[in-house]
Amino acid sequence: MAKDWSPSSWHAYPANQQPDWPDPGELDRALKQISSYPPLVFAGEARSLQSSLAKVAAGNAFLLQAGDCAESFEEFSAVNIREKLRVILQMAVVLTYSLGVPVVKVGRMAGQFAKPRSSAFEKIGDLELPSFRGHIVNDPTPTEAARIPNPERLVQAYHQSASTLNLVRAFTKGGFADLTRVHAWTQEFVESSPEGRRYEQLANEIDRALKFMRACGVEVENNHNLSEVDVYTSHEALLLGYEEALTRQDSLTGGWYDCSAHMLWIGERTRELDGAHVEFLRGVGNPIGCKIGPTTPTDYVLELCERLNPAHIPGRLTLISRMGAGKVEAALPAILRAVRDAGHPVVWACDPMHGNTFTSSTGHKTRDFADICAEIDGFVRAHHGEGTWPGGIHVELTGDNVTECLGGADKILDTELADRYQTVCDPRLNARQSLDLAFHVAESLRSSGLA
Ligand code: PEP
Ligand code: CO
Repeated sequence: MAKDWSPSSWHAYPANQQPDWPDPGELDRALKQISSYPPLVFAGEARSLQSSLAKVAAGNAFLLQAGDCAESFEEFSAVNIREKLRVILQMAVVLTYSLGVPVVKVGRMAGQFAKPRSSAFEKIGDLELPSFRGHIVNDPTPTEAARIPNPERLVQAYHQSASTLNLVRAFTKGGFADLTRVHAWTQEFVESSPEGRRYEQLANEIDRALKFMRACGVEVENNHNLSEVDVYTSHEALLLGYEEALTRQDSLTGGWYDCSAHMLWIGERTRELDGAHVEFLRGVGNPIGCKIGPTTPTDYVLELCERLNPAHIPGRLTLISRMGAGKVEAALPAILRAVRDAGHPVVWACDPMHGNTFTSSTGHKTRDFADICAEIDGFVRAHHGEGTWPGGIHVELTGDNVTECLGGADKILDTELADRYQTVCDPRLNARQSLDLAFHVAESLRSSGLA
């Protein structure tokens, strides 16, 4: 267990990005209520995820971490959850087959609500308003009243996370995730357009593999190895009061686990070495992540590894590189080398979204699918050069047919962004772009000889 740590020891450190809750009494009541509620996940599940991530760290598995930038209280429905899960499962099948290793599936789901902001205020028309910080804090409606942080929202976020997780568990164990069925959806995608047909060969290979298994007498239908999957949950551990309220002592090991999700990560804006976020996460037993942007000094990354994983436990720490397509190949190799030489068994994941955000001519915050692919290619090349394993991707997506990121098979133009721009925060890949990306990742690793 971490030395001199308790679930509340973070209070003695500066905590960035915390909302200005107007009434401390109300906040306290909401947090007390949440600490009396059941945990959302169990310590044993977090440990299973950590052992799967240890395989990723060793180069024998691949991490797919994906979901919303920010979950919404308004877009909360079974269909929404099912469609997101469907895309994640489809991507996982493509990656599993083409990389030939298990794919560890982690959703940005069932708790991904709170958002860090570059500025505490934003300008909307002539109004200057407190920034929207995610539905767990305030409401995006552009009025002064809507932007006041409301602790009741913490309780609502807990309940929405519980229902989302319940449905994820039902879908992944109840037949929806059956391999033959997920593959059939992917075939439909491949056949439905000339761009999709680029992937026909890979889809046909998966078909043949399934036929081969059947011919060998493997029961492909009704085989729980093929009909059930593990999908874990994760979010940015931003609101430390909420995370503390869900941190519980495991009766089996005596260790502390943040039971709000299986995996938690620290964002680019809150990873100060002597800050409250690093202090809090260093003490929980869950697998954890930390974002690494293009200006992060190499020594700083090494110090983060020491603080967050002093015992060098494989799978405990995932470093999520989010450099930007134009910077990744210059910034990443020295860090990869240093972390490798220091003997830190980290998972390296590529977030190709957050370093490639810009404002379109129409005023929308967007990302170009080509930049997203280019950052992945640069990430893969950097690993190839250092002999390290490009262990996974971390992406923002939705199962809906939104128009938030440019390009992809449907060649979304900036004049089309307004058609279905629905995100409450950052622009997400739509279902088609997401599956395209999975095929692209497969091609990128294969062409570097890594798969
Ligand atoms: C995010 O993952 O939504 C996010 C805010 O990322 P970052 O901390 O890397 O900017
Ligand atoms: Co985001």
